[in-house]
Amino acid sequence: MNLKGRLISANALTVILPVMITVISAMAYIYIAGKLADTEQAIHNTQEVAQLTMELVGRENSVLRQNPEKIKDSSFQKELQARMDILDGEVVVLEGERVLFSSHNLTAIDVVKLKKPAIQFRSARVDLGTQSYTVQSFDVSRDEAQAEKQTTLYLLVPINPASFDMTNFLIFSGLVFLLSFIGANSIASYYFSLRILTPLNNLQKAAMEITLGNLDYEIVEEGDQEVRELCRDLERMRIQLKNSVHTQLKYEDNRKMLISSISHDLKTPVTSIKGYVEGLLDGIANSPEKKEKYLKTIYRKAEQVDTMIDDLLLYAKLDLNQIPFSFEKTNIGEFLDDGLQEIEPEMERNGIKILFESELTSAQEIPLDRERMMRVILNIIDNSRKYMDKEEGVITLSLRETHSSVIIEIKDNGRGIPKKDVAQIFERFYRSDTARTEIKGSGLGLAIAKQIVEGHEGRIWAVSREGKGTSVLISLPRGEA
Ligand SMILES: Nc1ncnc2c1ncn2[C@@H]1O[C@H](COP(=O)(O)OP(=O)(O)O)[C@@H](O)[C@H]1O
Ligand SMILES: [Mg+2]
Repeated sequence: MNLKGRLISANALTVILPVMITVISAMAYIYIAGKLADTEQAIHNTQEVAQLTMELVGRENSVLRQNPEKIKDSSFQKELQARMDILDGEVVVLEGERVLFSSHNLTAIDVVKLKKPAIQFRSARVDLGTQSYTVQSFDVSRDEAQAEKQTTLYLLVPINPASFDMTNFLIFSGLVFLLSFIGANSIASYYFSLRILTPLNNLQKAAMEITLGNLDYEIVEEGDQEVRELCRDLERMRIQLKNSVHTQLKYEDNRKMLISSISHDLKTPVTSIKGYVEGLLDGIANSPEKKEKYLKTIYRKAEQVDTMIDDLLLYAKLDLNQIPFSFEKTNIGEFLDDGLQEIEPEMERNGIKILFESELTSAQEIPLDRERMMRVILNIIDNSRKYMDKEEGVITLSLRETHSSVIIEIKDNGRGIPKKDVAQIFERFYRSDTARTEIKGSGLGLAIAKQIVEGHEGRIWAVSREGKGTSVLISLPRGEA
């Protein structure tokens, strides 16, 4: 049930439940009180009547045994009536069918009822008007011959529930209602505080913590369905907020790193350009040969700055996902072969041989952003060239396939990478100590390669043995996989 439904039913229950409890206990009260009073009354009445009977006729010396005529004495009759009044009872004296005395207005039918044989000589039940009575009858004069002159005394005790005490009943019912109302309300309040208020308080606390910047404050799912959903949404919000703050901090870090690295790495060639220009201006380069040498150095340094700036721009764009990749189905074998043919002459000038081996069983068409993937291959081969320390340099590019991917391996027999560095060479600006001191570079080549390969859903890693050579491997998912 949702919160609204639950609220409505809880409210209804806090009213209906006490009413029901009150009605049931009132009924029980009436039943039990009636029963108790009835039996009490009945016992009391029986005792009283037995006592009176005893006084009147029970013993030899009882009043009516001694003097039966006394029954006709009106003051004696009044006295009897007074005794019976205490029990709300009635006194009737009949002579034959004639009423000698009655404390109750008797009709002819009533007299007939009292005269029934079943009533005679024992206690029985009779209804006079709307009231039922237990009747105790006994003959006062025993004149067997004249039945119509027979005087009979009837003592009637009402059979009715004792008069009902309304005040007690109302107090009782009021109390029951009040208590059950308080009870039902307490239960409802307890339930709501447990299932709604407590979770809401916790949420409020969590919101406070998050506002204060504690983004690790986890929001626990608890309480009613709607409250749980709210908790879940807020928890999701917290995680997103945390992630975005994290990303923002990462970008911030990135930016600081970039700025410090750029300034440092650009400073070096720019400083030497300044030095050579000053040399030219001061006339230190006095011969045409020297001048040309200075200018060529300046040109090389400027070129270096230029490629560094290009690298930086490309890296920044890739990092911010600014330019989308444009994939085209490409035959990977032909693509690599064409690329290698272009750089072969330049490599030969550096005394490096390039080999290409393909173990592919069929032509593999792979979606590639050609320009960027070529950039990856060239960056890697450029490293092999830069970090080559052997007389006969060899770079082998080989192609293999597994059931789900194509693997490109670029292997050289250069100086290799120290074990501690291998894992880090794909981080931006990371350069091994020797590279940093001796060989020009931005430290961005492999970071760019990694970004591009990952843009192709691929993986790039390196295996190297110091002094022997390095293998950089790229695995790309096969088009149909
Ligand atoms: N083929 C290789 N042989 C030896 N060291 C390499 C090779 N490729 C990369 N490295 C190491 O990895 C570092 C990072 O390479 P890279 O990101 O291309 O930066 P850069 O070439 O500008 O130094 C290099 O500085 C170098 O120390
Ligand atoms: Mg490089």
